Amino acid sequence: MELSKAITLRQSKRWFTDKAVPTELLEELVNQAQQSPSWINSQSVHVTIAKGEKLEAMRKQHAELNHDDNEPSRPFIPFRPIPEWEEPSQSNMKSWFGDVKEAMGDEGSQKLGEAGDQLYNAQAVVYLTLPKDYSDWTLIDLGLFAETLMLSATDAGLGSIPAYQYVQYPDKLQENLGLPEDRVPILGIGLGYFDSKEGLNKIHSKRMPLKQMLDIID
Ligand SMILES: Cc1cc2nc3c(=O)[nH]c(=O)nc-3n(C[C@H](O)[C@H](O)[C@H](O)COP(=O)(O)O)c2cc1C
Repeated sequence: MELSKAITLRQSKRWFTDKAVPTELLEELVNQAQQSPSWINSQSVHVTIAKGEKLEAMRKQHAELNHDDNEPSRPFIPFRPIPEWEEPSQSNMKSWFGDVKEAMGDEGSQKLGEAGDQLYNAQAVVYLTLPKDYSDWTLIDLGLFAETLMLSATDAGLGSIPAYQYVQYPDKLQENLGLPEDRVPILGIGLGYFDSKEGLNKIHSKRMPLKQMLDIID
């Protein structure tokens, strides 16, 4: 697939079919993502993938945690409420809720929540972890790694979603994924095959005009 096509086709999918993703394909995607750049080639990102029965057990636990008032969301990178963001980010986030409504009507937000409870029915979740005392630069490395992985997934006919939802309970992940004490889960990426007619997969997140975010100084 042409790179420009993969860039355009990669849009977050939020509901996957039950079809399993072959292990060899997952290995290939991670191998491609490993080609992304990192600070002095430090390669601090480690990948742990949950799939099959392990992921099913985690899915069940995640839905329970999401509905347990005694289990607040506690991602390693703290959550920041929308009103605390600067402009134009705040306005862009507000418009995104309009994009959700456009795709799924008034029940969109509720359906999103329900899908999140089920880890978007991803058939493999790629957890990207970093050393606990990571340099902030490695967050850039991790983002580059994530995008390369998602573009490669698109190229292979898979859908993907990077989600905060996957890393809300890092202590549980530590246990479930058998992570060493000194590594922390930063981001999860759900992968799977998808039906593009599914409303949750029709959300088209619009981008602000180029002129609003680009200055070229000559
Ligand atoms: C770090 C990060 C966390 C995200 N977390 C969620 C999430 O928890 N739930 C969700 O539905 N989308 C999540 N998204 C997806 C964004 O909503 C999406 O990338 C954005 O709207 C742009 O849309 P696109 O990916 O389809 O181009 C996340 C994206 C990023 C980069």
